[in-house]
Amino acid sequence: MSAGVARVGVVGGGQMGAGIAEVCARSGVDTVVCEVDAVAARAARDRVAASLDRAVRRGKLSREASEAALARLVFTSGLDDLADRQLVVEAVVENRDAKTEVFAALDKIVEDPAAVLATNTSSLPVMRLGMATARADRVIGLHFFNPVPVLPLVEVVPSLHTSAGTTALVEDFVVRTLGKKAVRSQDRAGFVVNALLVPYLLSAVRMAESGFATAEDIDTGMKLGCAHPMGPLELADLIGLDTVASIAESLYDEFRESLYAPPPLLQRMVEAGLLGRKTGKGFHTYD
Ligand code: CAA
Repeated sequence: MSAGVARVGVVGGGQMGAGIAEVCARSGVDTVVCEVDAVAARAARDRVAASLDRAVRRGKLSREASEAALARLVFTSGLDDLADRQLVVEAVVENRDAKTEVFAALDKIVEDPAAVLATNTSSLPVMRLGMATARADRVIGLHFFNPVPVLPLVEVVPSLHTSAGTTALVEDFVVRTLGKKAVRSQDRAGFVVNALLVPYLLSAVRMAESGFATAEDIDTGMKLGCAHPMGPLELADLIGLDTVASIAESLYDEFRESLYAPPPLLQRMVEAGLLGRKTGKGFHTYD
């Protein structure tokens, strides 16, 4: 473990937050996950336990290591339980107001003024979240990829106010403690990966919307024609169509380029509650 960070907090226990917490705990880090209430905290625990079980079944983790990881995790509904953390990663819904509120609250709760507050945002400016605190030099973007236990990348995104020491500390944590690969990006909407990925996903939605090809054929095309592990519409379903739409809106807000504009079909599906895997139906249907 890096000398710098031994106690991590994660705010939000959805698919990203649970994945980040799992990876921290599997790396030997004492991890507290905070959700909005006891029911959501329980659901977050179940999510992590299910993923650890999957890792054991797939031969990626021993039963003992899985149990040890679970023992390093605490699930709570009180943000105050993050007071002694050295690094907190915010992974709540991709909404500017919700994230700003979390940062303002964390700034008051996390006692060590040297502690780092990180955001797993995919597309919102890190700077604005830093400005909601009195420690903008200790606020940074730490963007993981879904499924977090499987994908090795983390984007590290310093804002104009982030200190070099903060960036070095979190890069060391990502690489040496979590064993992941870090790439650095400037604080622009979409960073490196989503600036490239999201226009591609939106193009696939437009292709389905226009009737040019079926969702199945679009996905099969990219899987078998380009050796992608998933087709773009399956991937949008995995990310969550609400999240894809939110990222697209942030990109469009930032760059005002039509390739980032969320297509009407995507908006209608979000309004209809067809959000992909998490609701059982999106471009495809799930059990
Ligand atoms: N812990 C550790 N390893 C696990 C695991 C877990 N909980 N669950 C699965 N794995 C491993 C499996 O053992 C397997 O490893 P091997 O290939 O060595 O056997 C591998 O992960 C794949 O798992 P599965 O065989 O169960 O599943 P799959 O082959 O159908 O792959 C997938 C599923 C990993 C999701 C793959 O389809 C994939 O990589 N898809 C692309 C995902 C992607 O692009 N994600 C980025 C989304 S963008 C994002 O997240 C950022 C954003 O801001 C929107």
